[in-house]
Amino acid sequence: MNKLITPNDIDNKTVLELFERAEEFLTGTNSTVGQDKLLINIFFENSTRTRSSFEVAAKRIGMNITNLDVATSSTSKGETLFDTAANLDAMGPSIIVVRHKSSGVPGLLSNYTKASIVNGGDGAHAHPTQALLDLFTIKQYVKELEGKTIAIVGDVANSRVANSNMQLLPRFGLKVIVCAPPHFMPKTDLEKTHSLKDAVEKSDIIMCLRTQTERHKTHNYASLKDYAKDYCLTKEVVGDKDILALHPGPVNRNIDISDDFLADSRCKVLEQVQNGVAIRMAVLEKILKNQK
Ligand code: NCD
Repeated sequence: MNKLITPNDIDNKTVLELFERAEEFLTGTNSTVGQDKLLINIFFENSTRTRSSFEVAAKRIGMNITNLDVATSSTSKGETLFDTAANLDAMGPSIIVVRHKSSGVPGLLSNYTKASIVNGGDGAHAHPTQALLDLFTIKQYVKELEGKTIAIVGDVANSRVANSNMQLLPRFGLKVIVCAPPHFMPKTDLEKTHSLKDAVEKSDIIMCLRTQTERHKTHNYASLKDYAKDYCLTKEVVGDKDILALHPGPVNRNIDISDDFLADSRCKVLEQVQNGVAIRMAVLEKILKNQK
């Protein structure tokens, strides 16, 4: 593994190795493999979790880190993305983490840089480290994945998180079903439902998503409040079912998940964030080791 653009850049054996390493990192193990190595974060789109998660992970394996402030960078002075990347690459980073609103940008840049590129999320295309941390979190609570079902709920059509999970989770035996209103339903051969109740009944795990309003070209639905009436995960909808609920964040409270269900022990949103650091430590370490 010398880049990570989609989950298909990693085979299952390597995924499981990364998970073993992440387990060790969670118990406090540290690594010095990143000493004297530089990671550059270039985030052309907003981020709270992912950017800081990469930053914390990089520091915990001893890397130096620079965050490029895109608002003040030269891409806003007309420099092409490729020139920006080439200039950053000339500073000798080992890894560049890229987030961009256009699908395909991190993959394209990886053809032009000596540094390994890690995709921090591109358009509606992919978010591989999120899918890895989601699977890792599921495996912490669900011991046998074969025969289990996960429903991905919400704006699936515009979600890179959903896309990467739809690629990764079936490789480990999970059945994925999609629950969305027609305008958020992706083109897919996976089982589909428009009913959240139906999705909850059929599933062992529920992954809720944020409505990606910034990616909608047309506004073909009523308000988010109307959406929430049908798709917000609440205690009332879930009842006392033994289920695991995930969300990649940022959560729109009472639209994606209700206040009461966010506080429920079946909801693992903060565990996902904690696991994200350990997973990213494992990913960065693996890439650095492969560079030696
Ligand atoms: C997601 C993203 O940016 O792709 N969040 C994340 O990285 N944890 C999901 C979102 O923005 O809704």
